[in-house]
Amino acid sequence: MLSERADDWQKEWTMAMVIRTKDEIPDDAYRTMVLTLMDKQAGREVATAEVFGQCVLHAPTVEDKIRITRFQAEELKHFQLIGRLMRDLGVDMDAYVQNRQKAGARFTGDEADMQIRDWIDATMFNFVIDRAATFQLGEYTKGSYLPLADANRIILKEEEGHKSFGEVCLEEMCRDPATRAEIQRRFAKWFVASMRIFGRAGTPGNAYCLRVGLKTRDSGDVAAAYLDSIRPVMAACGLRFPARAELPLDLPPQVDLDVPVGVVS
Ligand SMILES: [Fe+2]
Ligand SMILES: [Fe+2]
Repeated sequence: MLSERADDWQKEWTMAMVIRTKDEIPDDAYRTMVLTLMDKQAGREVATAEVFGQCVLHAPTVEDKIRITRFQAEELKHFQLIGRLMRDLGVDMDAYVQNRQKAGARFTGDEADMQIRDWIDATMFNFVIDRAATFQLGEYTKGSYLPLADANRIILKEEEGHKSFGEVCLEEMCRDPATRAEIQRRFAKWFVASMRIFGRAGTPGNAYCLRVGLKTRDSGDVAAAYLDSIRPVMAACGLRFPARAELPLDLPPQVDLDVPVGVVS
């Protein structure tokens, strides 16, 4: 009975927990986890900017090149926003940027996975990877560390534009059956990389983040929600998710890989 009451108290305390500034960080465990989350995000922001650099080469029109260049600058701004918070906690951000290996491989651990060979790759990077990374940030806007939540609210506004562009390009490309078939053929590779962004479900790190309010959902639930968000676009494009058995990953059980049969315009 007593321990149940203690559990309830713990739950209420967690729900009420808001850390307004770095000086309110309660202990080392919280500080380490905030730094881990920001480190992952900052690495992806700068890596996204670098991959967009490759995308510019393949953009078919000058308007597309201008748009991608703008996205690239925005990603670097996102990096600066998070970098400032990391610097406040003692991280040497100049060394962080200079460490190319560290920054460049933040999506799957292997920079070669993010090679952009043509506009199809560029569109898939934008539609799948940039979007998955952004989806993850929605969690942080509700998190208990207010400086990170506030920075991500600003970031998410700009990411809306990146998301719409990826979607429009993909839909346009999929009108051509041969291009659609090629996109489908390449889809599994990008899909696997996107699932790695969400990380493994049900880990002690996830449980800790939920307990101290740094996340509101387990990684498995976030990955499932992300797929729900792109499912209508997949249907409209006439694309399908890869089958579970084809994937070299342990997908959380709540992830739904069905796509209703779409109408391709
Ligand atoms: Fe970003
Ligand atoms: Fe982006």
